[in-house]
Amino acid sequence: MKQTDTVTPIIIDTDPGIDDAVAIAIALYDPTLDVKLISTVAGNVGLDATTLNAEKLMTYFDKNVPIARGAAEPLIRQFEDASDIHGKTGMEGFDFPEPRKDLLLKENSVDAMRHVLMSSDKPITLVTIGPLTNVALLLKTYPEVKSHISEIVMMGGSVTRGNKGVMAEFNIYVDPEAAKIVLKSGIHVTMATLDAGMGTAIPPEETARMDDMGKVGHMAHDLFQRYRKRSFGTGLKMYDPCAIACILQPDLFTMQDAFVDVETAGELTAGCTVIDLKGYLHKEPNATVTTGVDSQRFCEWFMKAIERCD
Ligand code: RIB
Ligand code: CA
Repeated sequence: MKQTDTVTPIIIDTDPGIDDAVAIAIALYDPTLDVKLISTVAGNVGLDATTLNAEKLMTYFDKNVPIARGAAEPLIRQFEDASDIHGKTGMEGFDFPEPRKDLLLKENSVDAMRHVLMSSDKPITLVTIGPLTNVALLLKTYPEVKSHISEIVMMGGSVTRGNKGVMAEFNIYVDPEAAKIVLKSGIHVTMATLDAGMGTAIPPEETARMDDMGKVGHMAHDLFQRYRKRSFGTGLKMYDPCAIACILQPDLFTMQDAFVDVETAGELTAGCTVIDLKGYLHKEPNATVTTGVDSQRFCEWFMKAIERCD
């Protein structure tokens, strides 16, 4: 459980992305989180678009957080995006102001993350809400950063079924080899899984209320009109905000320590997270996995968090 009086330094690695946009807003406006860097990766849409979206968000939120461009494609596999869900730009539905261009660092996100981690006076939480390509490259290129990372909190993986193919969650599916490297790194991972995310539906009447909740609520309201059209009526799942909630309000979730690995060889199952809840593999747990969420309390937490973003 996070101590509310302490400020936690974090780096967010992201592929904005509509649910990324609200997750980033909640993190930026929470007084107990100190966002040191936004690192962008290809995922929901290509790297140019996710990086431009990060600039749009920092400009709209009026936050001076540096941005660094990361990987434009997975370590090995062919890049596949989710523009069918987030739209061609990755944040269809809201008319953002012209983005400022002075936040984008010259160095790539691997070097930028290393610099932030090595110059911090306390360990930093790495929050990943997109594919794990950048983090895998960071850990392989600069293993010395590991002792400067307190934990990795990721939206990724699923205990049961997937949302990209039968068994894979999108962030893992895009770059399973990167996910395997991160899970084998020895750094503790808190996994906000799809299974918990499925219980975070924000119903249409709550989305309607957001429109009058200040500039972040208005942005979310407009983006949500476009996002995952088919599930608007039954409620939009807040996958990436779950990662932030795991830091700010972990008691919303049921969690369990488990050994987790990633299937990379399977023809039909590549990207599947094998989460050994019963210890069949007799391996030490490397992750704390969300297995469920209190849906009502999450919705209340989420709406209060959006309301506070002002
Ligand atoms: O599976 C959900 C994840 O994939 C979220 O991070 C969403 O933004 C997409 O990247
Ligand atoms: Ca994302």
